[in-house]
Amino acid sequence: MTGTIKKSEIKIAFFDAKTYDREFFDRENKNYGYEIKYFPVKLSADTAQLAKGYNTLCLFVNDDISSEVIDKIYENGTRLIVMRCAGYNNVDLKAAFKKVHVLRVPEYSPYAVAEHAAALILALNRKVHKAYNRVRDHNFSIAGLMGFDMHGKTAGVIGTGRIGKVMCEILRGFGMKLLAFDRYPDSAFASRCGVEYIELKELYRRSDIISIHCPLTKDNFHMIDADAISQMKPGVILINTSRGQLVDTAALVEGLKNEKIKAAGLDVYEEESEYFFEDKSDEIMVDDLLARLTSFSNVIITSHQGFFTEEALNNIAATTLQNVADYYSGNALKNEICYHCSESPCPKKTENKLSCFPRDEK
Ligand code: NAI
Repeated sequence: MTGTIKKSEIKIAFFDAKTYDREFFDRENKNYGYEIKYFPVKLSADTAQLAKGYNTLCLFVNDDISSEVIDKIYENGTRLIVMRCAGYNNVDLKAAFKKVHVLRVPEYSPYAVAEHAAALILALNRKVHKAYNRVRDHNFSIAGLMGFDMHGKTAGVIGTGRIGKVMCEILRGFGMKLLAFDRYPDSAFASRCGVEYIELKELYRRSDIISIHCPLTKDNFHMIDADAISQMKPGVILINTSRGQLVDTAALVEGLKNEKIKAAGLDVYEEESEYFFEDKSDEIMVDDLLARLTSFSNVIITSHQGFFTEEALNNIAATTLQNVADYYSGNALKNEICYHCSESPCPKKTENKLSCFPRDEK
């Protein structure tokens, strides 16, 4: 039974492993002593065979956790997936239900992502990226680098969960007026932080800067499309550190070309899995949309690094390995996600207290 499994029987296959993952997980694993095998490749239908013999998989944002892959890893004996991230839009939760338990790290550092979003705004507004290159060339001209005072301008924050709330507080620090849209407005937060919850249309119409902090769900794919962009204030700055598929990239490119959008800061991209986190500097870029985006001097793209702070990686490793410990020691799985709710914690857990469905007999 899971409750009596020996530590030596817990075998973790760690996909899409980078050197920094190893550093933080090996350090944290000194507290647990699990067998961890690091695979540099992403999990996919082609690589699923590598997971054979591993009861536990540690996965990330661009691993393929579709029903086809879930069937393969289930046949190979995997019963637990620990996501080392908060988002789980790449997991087919319905396919996983009653086969593989899926746990995540719901919170590791909202500050990391919000601070990165703020860095993108500041860099784009004051053209820090251009100034840096100019000065390296001993060009000390400031012509063309003019920005605007953020103080007194209006920011629209879409999604006021953990990260969106920190973002509101940062922007309030700049003296900005704050508008927000969330499916579940938090009125106590609104009055504490001076945030006005409004409908999306009005947020688009009134915001000088829009920052996206909601999850990608079935309902909001391409929420920022040509129609949404047409409703925005001319000269808006758009920031997306959430998920690439929230923005229709072709429509964004049009908005940049016709100067409706003054600048865009993107930490995510809808087809990022081919490129982000990888060194592709000696290859020809075949993704025309990404190539077009990188050609704009008023677009800053970072490679999904919003989460990438020491504090966040420490917390990710600690929570992920604690999730493994909770599963194998029969504890309640507070970080489990399942298809009942596609949210965690799962309401079904109130019925059987421990998990969304019983844990397997090894
Ligand atoms: P959270 O779960 O604390 O908050 C999400 C908020 O969005 C909630 O208040 C929810 O009510 C709201 N929401 C859900 N659907 C919505 C919709 N259709 N429209 C408007 N609001 C909606 O999540 P958290 O921790 O704040 O993370 C937000 C997102 O940030 C994650 O889902 C993930 O996609 C992204 N993220 C990006 C990282 C990066 O490295 N760039 C790292 C971590 C998270």
